[in-house]
Amino acid sequence: MKHFNAELLKELPSRYKANLINSCTGYKSSNLLGSISSSGNSNLAIFNSVVHIGSNPPMLGFILRPLTIRRDSYNNFKTAGAFTVNQVCQNIIKEAHHTSAKYDEGISEFEKSGLTETYLDDFEAPYVSESPIKIGCRYINEYEIKENGCLLIIGAIEHIYLPEESIANDGWVHLDKTNAISSVGLDGYALPKIIERLSYAKPNELSKSIIHGA
Ligand SMILES: Cc1cc2nc3c(=O)[nH]c(=O)nc-3n(C[C@H](O)[C@H](O)[C@H](O)COP(=O)(O)O)c2cc1C
Repeated sequence: MKHFNAELLKELPSRYKANLINSCTGYKSSNLLGSISSSGNSNLAIFNSVVHIGSNPPMLGFILRPLTIRRDSYNNFKTAGAFTVNQVCQNIIKEAHHTSAKYDEGISEFEKSGLTETYLDDFEAPYVSESPIKIGCRYINEYEIKENGCLLIIGAIEHIYLPEESIANDGWVHLDKTNAISSVGLDGYALPKIIERLSYAKPNELSKSIIHGA
C-alpha cells in the first residue's frame, strides 16, 4: 500500500498534491452557484464543497477560495444578498465544468456554457433551468478559515424545487432518480447509485432496510 506521510506530502508537486488531497476524502456534491451583479450581469460557477449545515433553520454552506483574486460569485451575493444552488446532473457535466473557466466580470457563464438562466417566484438570483434540483438561498454569514484564507459561506435556504417523484414519503430525496452527479477532485464526475436506506441506528440492534418505505 502506498503511504504518504506529512514529510512526503510537503514535497509533492503542487498539482499532484492538489489532486490527491482533493479526491482522497471521497465523492463530493456537485452544484452550480448562480448569482447576479448590481448591473445585471449573471454569473454561474461550479462548486463541489456545498454541504448541509442544518435543517432547523434550513441552511447550507460552501467553501470559497481566498479573496486574493476577483471572485464574481462572492461579490454578487454580497451585494444582492442572494444566490442559487443547482445540482449538476448527468446530461450537463461538460457545460457545468466549463463554468469554472475564468471569464471577465461582464461575461455570463450561463451564455458561455450554454446553460439556461431562469428566474422563479421573484427570487433575485438566477437558477439553472436544466438542473433537476434548484435551491434559492439568502446569504447570511461567512467564517474565515484562518489556516488558508478560505471562507465558509452560510446561506439560509428559502426555496427548493425538485421533481415530485424524487421525494420519498418522509421527505428523503432519492437523488439517483434525478441523475445527480457527484464530483471527484476538480475534474472527475461520477454517477452514484443508491443501494440502501437503513433505519435509525440504536445500540445493540442492527438497522433494518427502509429503502421501500419506513
Ligand atoms: C469540479 C470543480 C469544483 C470546484 N469547487 C469549488 C469550490 O468548492 N469553491 C471554490 O471557491 N471554487 C471551486 N471551483 C472553482 C470555481 O468554479 C472557479 O474558481 C470559478 O471561476 C469561480 O467563479 P467566480 O469567480 O465567477 O465566482 C471548482 C471548480 C471545479 C472544476
